[in-house]
Amino acid sequence: MISVRNLSHRIGDATILRDITLDLPEGGITALIGPNGAGKSTLLNLIARLVPIQRGAIAVDGLDVAATPSHRLALKLAIVAQQLGVASRLRVRDLIGFGRWPHHNGRPTAGDAAAVSRVIADFALGDLQHRFLDELSGGQKQRAFVAMGVAQDTDWLLLDEPLNNLDMFHARVLMARIHALTRQASGRRRGVVMVVHDINYAAAWADHIVALRDGAVVASGGPVTVLTGPVLSDLFGMEIRVAQMADRPLVLHHL
Ligand SMILES: Nc1ncnc2c1ncn2[C@@H]1O[C@H](COP(=O)(O)OP(=O)(O)O)[C@@H](O)[C@H]1O
Ligand SMILES: [Mg+2]
Repeated sequence: MISVRNLSHRIGDATILRDITLDLPEGGITALIGPNGAGKSTLLNLIARLVPIQRGAIAVDGLDVAATPSHRLALKLAIVAQQLGVASRLRVRDLIGFGRWPHHNGRPTAGDAAAVSRVIADFALGDLQHRFLDELSGGQKQRAFVAMGVAQDTDWLLLDEPLNNLDMFHARVLMARIHALTRQASGRRRGVVMVVHDINYAAAWADHIVALRDGAVVASGGPVTVLTGPVLSDLFGMEIRVAQMADRPLVLHHL
């Protein structure tokens, strides 16, 4: 479980997060939804310690994020942040290989190479693995970065808008892969926390949904609880209707 306790965050005079207390269940997909500027990226970055905690506490499976040594945290949690600052003359395979760093500390073994090959196959990146990142489309680059996060092979994976730039086919493939990660035959429990803008991906795939607005949690629970017309209309400030498709909500927001 990721437990967030009384987390507040300010940048200059602006309050970005307001006293957030939240439990993210282990094993499964948690979707983080909410309007632009709600604080979703800030929350993920604080959990992953890309940004230092100012007030409050975060624990990942009992590890205090503020106090855990970096190498320990990197074996527990991976993040693919929203702004993919890219060293562009890097090949896809090498980027994904960076995900293995916490496991080998600069001395990759045959096992690490095999792990990279496995992820490349899983994410259908075989044809692109020797290409430079600056020779890829936005969506291809996005898939390579997510694959790097998966290669880190952590119990927790945080993904900030991983569906950005992906076409329907690749978005579905990515969601299916992520879903499979959280439901392995070995019984290993892996948790994925992802920021999603297209609510219907959350509706179709998420086990748990957290809605953030203006730096505060406005709803948290299963898809059926959170993805209702009233909650979503209030969250985004527009009329949103919710239908039912199979046993999942289907969010209608184009009308
Ligand atoms: N480095 C920064 N300096 C100033 N304001 C920032 C900075 N990063 C984020 N913010 C502000 O914090 C708020 C939350 O941002 P963010 O967490 O990126 O939101 P979201 O990911 O939900 O769109 C926004 O109002 C944004 O403008
Ligand atoms: Mg963001």
